[in-house]
Amino acid sequence: MFGKRNGQGGATGAPPTPAPPQPVAPPVAEEHVAAPTAASQPIPDLPPMAPVPESAPQSFSTAPGPETMAPPPAVAAPVAPAPAAPAAPKPAVQERSVSAPEPVTAPRSDEYYAVKTTIFNALIDTIDLTQLAQLDREAARDEIRDIVNEIIAIKDVVMSIAEQEELLEDICNDVLGYGPLEPLLARDDIADIMVNGAARTFIEVDGKVRETSIRFRDNGQLMNICQRIVSQVGRRVDESSPICDARLPDGSRVNVIAPPLAIDGPSLTIRKFKKDKLTMEKLVSFGSITPEGAKILEIIGRCRCNVLISGGTGSGKTTLLNCLTAFIEEDERVITCEDSAELQLQKPHVVRLETRPPNLEGEGEVTMRELVKNCLRMRPERIIVGEVRGPEAFDLLQAMNTGHDGSMGTLHSNSPRECLSRIESMITMGGFGLPSQTIRDMIVGSVDIIVQAARLRDGSRRITHVTEVLGSEGDVITTQDLFLYDIQGEDANGNIIGQHRSTGIARPKFWERARYFNVEMELAAALEAAEVSTEENTQRM
Ligand SMILES: Nc1ncnc2c1ncn2[C@@H]1O[C@H](COP(=O)(O)OP(=O)(O)OP(=O)(O)O)[C@@H](O)[C@H]1O
Ligand SMILES: [Mg+2]
Repeated sequence: MFGKRNGQGGATGAPPTPAPPQPVAPPVAEEHVAAPTAASQPIPDLPPMAPVPESAPQSFSTAPGPETMAPPPAVAAPVAPAPAAPAAPKPAVQERSVSAPEPVTAPRSDEYYAVKTTIFNALIDTIDLTQLAQLDREAARDEIRDIVNEIIAIKDVVMSIAEQEELLEDICNDVLGYGPLEPLLARDDIADIMVNGAARTFIEVDGKVRETSIRFRDNGQLMNICQRIVSQVGRRVDESSPICDARLPDGSRVNVIAPPLAIDGPSLTIRKFKKDKLTMEKLVSFGSITPEGAKILEIIGRCRCNVLISGGTGSGKTTLLNCLTAFIEEDERVITCEDSAELQLQKPHVVRLETRPPNLEGEGEVTMRELVKNCLRMRPERIIVGEVRGPEAFDLLQAMNTGHDGSMGTLHSNSPRECLSRIESMITMGGFGLPSQTIRDMIVGSVDIIVQAARLRDGSRRITHVTEVLGSEGDVITTQDLFLYDIQGEDANGNIIGQHRSTGIARPKFWERARYFNVEMELAAALEAAEVSTEENTQRM
């Protein structure tokens, strides 16, 4: 009933603006409760410890242990009693200032790593890893704590309680978790973690990418951690199968590419799962869209328009898709298809599907196309495709066209216009043998709205276009922008200044659909408000 469009020609829009405030990084701090248990063996003769030069830039130093072979460094700081009070405040996270890229974690000296390696090696010689594996995390942590404390005492390593806590935390992370990644994983303000070999790790915070002081002992340790991550989802990464996608238990999306494909050591990329999920209200508060724009998107979601969310890498497509699904009715049956399950629909009637890569023998692959096709046999009301990147575009459009109104998907492209041509080329390259005109007709008959997301050069993320697909004229699909973001300039801090506005179209193409769902008055009001609030928006900037 809401099939074809007739319409006016397309408008153009400009991209986005200023920096959204983001949550401030919570520091990482774990509490430990000391209590020894069974997993330790009596500490045998510990391997001699490499004496650490006493003139440490940090306060770690070692006094010669009883069995130290090197000449005792005369200067070894005599037991420095720790200020026993507040346990190690972790220096992990800092308040972000818009421009100054501050260090992300306190840098550690080579000496710290030397001491840690010595203690770590002694711990591995001492501890019974099989027994340790049987303990739960807290008990294992306590066990490690006791042994590390003993080793520190025997080796006469001089460090404050705070330093000791930090070292212990580090060692526990190595033995029980994801090693140096742990402090980064514990933070909720990080969007991406990018490890380029053992020595360099970058993160994205507030839309800005910066280097951290996190480093791994060597590529071997990094590879072990990568292996640990991917083995949790039954996958393997090594020289013979060097590319792997996986997911952390918390839902973070992981990609590993190992040598020999990655030339300078394993490369690990993590799209952090946000515990504090972004909602449309938050996007409004960040300035990614105005309240009126959010209302228009809400109506689009509620009246079951078929939507494609378009945007560049990390522009917020999945986040936006997730926000839009909030407007799905409770009783609608929704099926999601993703390469790595990232969506978190807070709805009762959802079936989540995930693709599967081939196994080592190259068998068992389940593609997105197969998933989407299978969906159609599952009595879906809406189909949501996490990311459309190949021939599944055809199946999604077919689903949109055949009674699954309100289906949605994201795809990589830089403008609504490019989004349309990308869909067309995905179908062309899928080998369906369809003439271009048929493909275009199919697109026009299926896609109602394209929402464009962008990450601007100042790191902010904006919704830059809400565009309707109208029809076609000759070879060209016609569109009309309903809502846009205009860039107006840049402030002194390099933040982009701009404003969202409606384009003045009072009766969008989906007006009839809105009427059917009884939301046409709300739609008219939101479109009008978006127009008149222009000045207000400018002042807000
Ligand atoms: N409007 C926004 N304001 C601030 N941060 C945002 C916004 N939208 C998304 N983010 C954050 O940006 C990061 C990337 O978002 P998201 O995963 O949605 O991007 P994407 O376009 O789907 O990326 P990819 O192309 O890798 O799939 C996430 O950490 C998310 O929390
Ligand atoms: Mg995504």
